[in-house]
Amino acid sequence: MTHIKELESKVQELVTLLEASKQLNSNLEMGEVLESILLQMVRIVGAEAGTLWVLDKKRQKIKVSAAYGPSAASILNIELDQNEGIVGKVIRTGEAQLIENVAENPDWTARVDQSSGFVTKSMITVPLAVKGKVLGAMQLLNKQDIAFFSEQDIRLADALSSQSALALHNSQMYEELQQMLLSMIRTLAKVLDARDPYTAGHSERVAKYSLWIAQKLELSASDCEELYKAALLHDIGKIGITDAILRKPDRLTVEEYTTIQQHTVIGADILSNVEPKDAMVHAADTALSHHERLDGTGYPHGLAGDAIPLFARIVGVADTFDAMTTARSYSKGLSYQLGVEELRRCKETLFDAQIVDAFTAILEECDYQIDQYEAGQGRGYRL
Ligand SMILES: [Fe+2]
Repeated sequence: MTHIKELESKVQELVTLLEASKQLNSNLEMGEVLESILLQMVRIVGAEAGTLWVLDKKRQKIKVSAAYGPSAASILNIELDQNEGIVGKVIRTGEAQLIENVAENPDWTARVDQSSGFVTKSMITVPLAVKGKVLGAMQLLNKQDIAFFSEQDIRLADALSSQSALALHNSQMYEELQQMLLSMIRTLAKVLDARDPYTAGHSERVAKYSLWIAQKLELSASDCEELYKAALLHDIGKIGITDAILRKPDRLTVEEYTTIQQHTVIGADILSNVEPKDAMVHAADTALSHHERLDGTGYPHGLAGDAIPLFARIVGVADTFDAMTTARSYSKGLSYQLGVEELRRCKETLFDAQIVDAFTAILEECDYQIDQYEAGQGRGYRL
């Protein structure tokens, strides 16, 4: 009998590990991964609720990053000081704890229960550690059906915690890499813009407008992210155009204009060499086609209508608007209102009507106070 039980729990353990790694492979959004791991743990030990705490070393805080149970919604994002409570102690010492009655424990902070309305009785807290570094802790609350958690429950939770810790570690590393990639892309765009005082901030603004349009068009979060990066890099090919042409204050000759048009092809070429190949596909397409126009009068290939990729159509509108409304050596720059009028005039001939409508709706919404719209959005971009 004991053997069968042991076997059962081993199988359960393996299934949990498998599920956890499947989750990790299929979706690296940290919140979702943690939530799914927590749910599995709660089920395995038969708890009423569970909380996953993540240590934020910089801010010296511990924060609920996933919660399961009747008060989950009100517990999510609650923060404690890094040494506060039972969870703080487990994170500090790296040792799991089984507590039969939390009310009698000197380290217990009732604050979390008070703000959620949940009543914690018994509790298991296990540290989440990778290579000796504690990243957070998992708490399993109130054993269901019987009064207390057993030593076996804590052993199981402890054994499974390494998988959870690894998932947390991987997710944190993935997010850090994403942040690093984005800041590298931003730096690259800034370096590019800095070549010409008249284009300072151009790529950031185009990326910002493009993101707002994408959000208005209700593109998926991952598309918005891809578009934002692609828009930051849309003019990267200008790196291959000489200053004499790029910064020429007078009108360009036909030959010079042909040369400057090459920035689309150069940009696509640069970005299509980024590894892994599929990471920058949209960015390469956007760099190549952001000067294509709906009626086929654009460059470099004279694409028309839907043959122009959606991201390039969006960036095309954002780019044109910024170019029109920013002072250049040869012009003062239009007001935002006149910029919008100009986009409207070219709607359906040069620009995609839906995109122009989305962008003009944004500008009207904030009464042409772009700074206010940005403040309302609360960000350039989340990452
Ligand atoms: Fe361009």
